[in-house]
Amino acid sequence: PYRVAILGATGAVGQELLELLESRNFPLADLKLLASARSAGQKISFKGESLAVEAVDDKSFDGIDIVLASAGGSTSKAMAPKAVEAGAVVIDNSSAFRMNPEVPLVVPEVNPEAASEHKGIIANPNCTTILMAVAVYPLHKVKKIRRIIAATYQSASGAGAKAMAEVQTQASAILSGQQPVASIFPYPLAFNLFPHNTPLNEMGYCEEEMKMVNETRKIFGTQEIRVSATCVRVPVLRAHSEAINLEFDEPFDKDEARKILSSAPGVKLVDDWQGNYFPMPIDATGRDEVLVGRIRQDISHNCGLELWLCGDQIRKGAALNAVQIAELLVE
Ligand code: HSE
Repeated sequence: PYRVAILGATGAVGQELLELLESRNFPLADLKLLASARSAGQKISFKGESLAVEAVDDKSFDGIDIVLASAGGSTSKAMAPKAVEAGAVVIDNSSAFRMNPEVPLVVPEVNPEAASEHKGIIANPNCTTILMAVAVYPLHKVKKIRRIIAATYQSASGAGAKAMAEVQTQASAILSGQQPVASIFPYPLAFNLFPHNTPLNEMGYCEEEMKMVNETRKIFGTQEIRVSATCVRVPVLRAHSEAINLEFDEPFDKDEARKILSSAPGVKLVDDWQGNYFPMPIDATGRDEVLVGRIRQDISHNCGLELWLCGDQIRKGAALNAVQIAELLVE
């Protein structure tokens, strides 16, 4: 059994991590809950016991085997090296180390072997990238994907629990004829959407979009795959959706793609043309699998496929992926 610490235990991802360690019966010798000094002292129940959250400091990692870090990038940057020095392996959910060539970037359904090459830190990819990778890699294995164009529909919870609450408050205000207040987002999100996150780079891409480009290449182990994305924030509360256009070197039959995806790890095919039922974020919420459907040929060229996916970005897009990486380490 392993001595595990969760850094960022009081956040939304931290809460999912706790639930998954319990429900997946992770071999735990000990569990330490760490957070910022502001959240220290909170009590969290785990397997019927009440555990106190401790403020993280330089000594927090003594005797710890695995750190599941779900704090912000600056906390990870400061704390991960200390944890590694203390002998722990850090599975980090922030973007701090993802593109570091010494740090494996792992989606267990895609590149599990990369996890064993770590030098103390393993990075958990960006949520939107994980969901897309799980859905398209099974096709890439059969016929190489030349190009991916993605449009995402990202829920408010991707910007944190307070953002979710803000959308609900805005919706109530609007429905009762009042002016909605925006503090987390720059404008009201209720009954609206944002076509981009800020800041935009000199080419007009935001960070989330560039993560999809760069992280997909690293996870798939090829710089040849071309990716472009438009990441949109929508007033869905939880679970992200993505419209994906794929271009291959040769034609890929939609029925073959459907068959491959029907048994792909981490995927649930939801592609009911007769029942007119396809993936929706409300159905992906709280689920482990990425729901994939609307699989069709691209009518604009004969080597293209289109699909639609929904996945819980806090679960498979963050916490579950991290716990699966931890499971690879203890196998
Ligand atoms: N960057 C994502 C979003 C959250 O803003 O929706 C991913 O964890």
